[in-house]
Amino acid sequence: MPRGSLVHATACGLGPARILARHLAALLLGASASSLAAACAIPADRDRAEDVDRDAAIASRARRATQGAELYGRYCALCHGRDARGYAADHAPSLVSETFLATATNAFLARSVREGRPGTAMGAYGRAHGGPLGNDEVDAIIDFLRWPGPSWAAMPDAPVVGDPERGEVVYNEMCQPCHGTKASRGQAVHLANPGLLRAATDAFLREAIVHGRPGTPMMPFAGRLDDRDIDNVVALLRSWASASAPPAWPAEIPQDMPLVIHPEGPTPRFTLRMDRFVSAAQVKEALEAKSRIVILDARTPAEWLNLRIPGSVPAPYHDFSRLDGLENDGTWVVAYCACPHHASGIVVDELRRRGFSRTAVLDEGILRWKQLGYPVEERAPVEESR
Ligand code: HEC
Ligand code: HEC
Repeated sequence: MPRGSLVHATACGLGPARILARHLAALLLGASASSLAAACAIPADRDRAEDVDRDAAIASRARRATQGAELYGRYCALCHGRDARGYAADHAPSLVSETFLATATNAFLARSVREGRPGTAMGAYGRAHGGPLGNDEVDAIIDFLRWPGPSWAAMPDAPVVGDPERGEVVYNEMCQPCHGTKASRGQAVHLANPGLLRAATDAFLREAIVHGRPGTPMMPFAGRLDDRDIDNVVALLRSWASASAPPAWPAEIPQDMPLVIHPEGPTPRFTLRMDRFVSAAQVKEALEAKSRIVILDARTPAEWLNLRIPGSVPAPYHDFSRLDGLENDGTWVVAYCACPHHASGIVVDELRRRGFSRTAVLDEGILRWKQLGYPVEERAPVEESR
């Protein structure tokens, strides 16, 4: 029996909440979304009105969660993993660990998704920031992440009082090995990121430190640090917050940008690693030699607006329409992202599927490209008055 009908057959004897929980689980495992509506039909012989109301509310939430599951699969799974437990690419964190969902308010989640985390692989997905998702769609993803648990988390908003200088001593010893310095990310979430610090309350940060994130390398520090030291570290993180606002979206990305850089130039000679990856050094040389080349930015378009390789064109991993304008005439096409291979890999796979053979993924990605001091065009962060 196919998995979908198994879910349906066994689930129909259960209450709607559990039917839907199963259905979402099946969705994550790759089963089709289409039969959800059928599976969540509420039995007609329910007599108690409150049951019906409750079931209707659950069913409506479940429909949104299902829409969210589809959006999640399309836009987020490549880094956060199909099951949202993180670490599919670029150390993207888990989005479903118990302590995270219990302390991340919907406002925190929505803001993180809409505005992204500048300077990391986490792009801005909100339409107002140049991304592909409307607010309802972001909310649907949040419903999906929370499903079948409570649909929101309440957190106190009181600021934590502590001494940032003492906090720095603790941070350098106990946190920096994983989280990196104020200036640069380590392997774990960048705690100095303006996007995080705009979205997170002190209480959210404190709870994460106290209880950790079970199932990830983030251990609980309760017992390892006393309360005062924890407050001091939170005060340090808060002192890193800046007044910069995320860039809003007045700027339009032109649809008719030229795709080919230096159309009259020579063809570069690239040596690919594993028949797939081209080094940043080779691409930089090709640009200096005014070679004929196409460079595609595979991230969400807002990321291209904020930081890009000069001459590159946005061709996001979730929308291939720009690729239709490419001519398959032997011109090299290089795609890059920040992850540094996942989103660009999706674009290169699509091009190869369409018969483009001279295609490559920029091996180091744009963030390393910038660190190397190679040319970029960048939009300055907008200062926010607070
Ligand atoms: C290209 C990889 C990538 C994609 C695609 C991506 N993310 Fe992320 N996301 C990250 C990384 C990396 C971080 C951590 C950023 C940091 O270092 O601060 C992150 C952080 C987050 C956070 C904050 C988590 C926390 O613990 O503070 C949320 C929420 C989130 N992502 C949701 C999403 C959603 C929803 C989508 C799809 C719409 C998505 N992400 C797509 C890489 C990605
Ligand atoms: C062994 C590595 C490691 C150490 C040491 C560590 N962390 Fe973490 N931390 C992580 C990882 C990995 C995550 C993301 C976990 C996930 O996927 O949800 C994280 C998450 C967090 C978060 C939540 C961020 C968010 O947006 O959800 C905070 C806050 C945090 N760490 C603070 C600290 C502080 C403060 C210290 C030092 C006292 C510290 N961590 C030490 C690995 C570490």
